[in-house]
Amino acid sequence: MKSGLAISINLMDCFASACGGMVSQWYSSTMNAKYAIETIGLTKKYPTRRDDSGGLYGRHSSTDSFVAIFDVLRNRKRSYIEALRGIDLQIRKGEIFGLLGPNGAGKTTLIKILCTLVIHDEGEAYVNGFDVKKEPGNVVKHLQAVLPESRGFNWRLTGKQNLQFYSLLYGIPEKAARERVNYLLELTGLKDRANDGYQQYSTGMQRKLLLCRALLRNTPVLLFDEPTAGLDPTAAAEFRSLVRDKLARQEGTTVMLSTHNLNEAQDICDRIAILDRGKIIACDTPGKIQYAVHDEKVFSIAFADGRFDEERGRQMLNALEAIQGVHGATPDVDTARNLRGLSLRVDKDTDLSDILSVIMKNDLKISSINTTEPSLEEAFMAITRRRGE
Ligand SMILES: Nc1ncnc2c1ncn2[C@@H]1O[C@H](COP(=O)(O)OP(=O)(O)OP(=O)(O)O)[C@@H](O)[C@H]1O
Ligand SMILES: [Mg+2]
Repeated sequence: MKSGLAISINLMDCFASACGGMVSQWYSSTMNAKYAIETIGLTKKYPTRRDDSGGLYGRHSSTDSFVAIFDVLRNRKRSYIEALRGIDLQIRKGEIFGLLGPNGAGKTTLIKILCTLVIHDEGEAYVNGFDVKKEPGNVVKHLQAVLPESRGFNWRLTGKQNLQFYSLLYGIPEKAARERVNYLLELTGLKDRANDGYQQYSTGMQRKLLLCRALLRNTPVLLFDEPTAGLDPTAAAEFRSLVRDKLARQEGTTVMLSTHNLNEAQDICDRIAILDRGKIIACDTPGKIQYAVHDEKVFSIAFADGRFDEERGRQMLNALEAIQGVHGATPDVDTARNLRGLSLRVDKDTDLSDILSVIMKNDLKISSINTTEPSLEEAFMAITRRRGE
């Protein structure tokens, strides 16, 4: 079997010959575009409808447009939910970019705007240089979005037949489509159940089929809204390695994904943005965001057979606290006056050799050393809480 990369290149070739000059136009625009995704002051307001008692009716419904017309006629002011408030983002080609944020922060709205499902009110958004509002046709040729509510599979067809159906819709030539479908079914572990009816698929299997469908066309930009929700831990880990190692590193695909799984974001994202109530409140590498709130780490040292001598102990703690970057030293002394260990709060860049030399001078035998870094979860909670306050 050909490698996935070779098949992908074949697909691009087929696409290119099928669409002729149009493709060279996309390619030149794609090559010229500085960023894979760029947004400038992106704003989206959803109209809300209130009942007479002032309660909120909830999500946007199909009758909303009629209500809007009546509201205008009756000169009644409408109320809005500001889902996005001036989002500025620049995502490089081949970058894996994570969107984090509490429920209702605007993650799905941003993804839906980029894949042209929702139209923004103000600002600009570009995918590979194409304006999502003015050139939606070119935008959807360059990206594929996987949303949790994505459906469109026929319940009576098998998983494989569903993928073959979409290959046909995408205009992928038969031989290339066959190879690609088999390759993707194998890649996602669905091969053994490929000939089962879609209605027999579990939620996780349906998710994997969505992923296969997203990868049929080999687009340069992929958008995932909570891609691993509903997947078992092994499948989620396989998805992450597929995104990081194959799609981003090998094929240079740009990936934007929203997730509530902070470990996932830390594991695969080059950069993340934390959204809260429609605004970006932090945007950096996971490592930097991790330290954005807590600039310290905790350094714990365990001793083998130290006795705690009141006078010497106090001198050692004073000497440790005098080291630049050390903010506190707490001894761990048991009831028999044994010095079991020390914990120190230190700046993340502190040189630990100064600390060790103070301990050595006190003839203490070190049995283990541990450092506890602040977690991305702690930073996330602190950043979003701080903003709430
Ligand atoms: N079709 C709609 N009509 C009205 N309001 C909407 C609509 N879609 C989203 N909203 C509102 O816009 C805001 C942002 O919603 P969005 O779905 O983008 O959030 P999210 O960050 O994806 O949240 P979650 O983590 O829960 O998926 C919310 O206040 C939501 O209620
Ligand atoms: Mg969402």
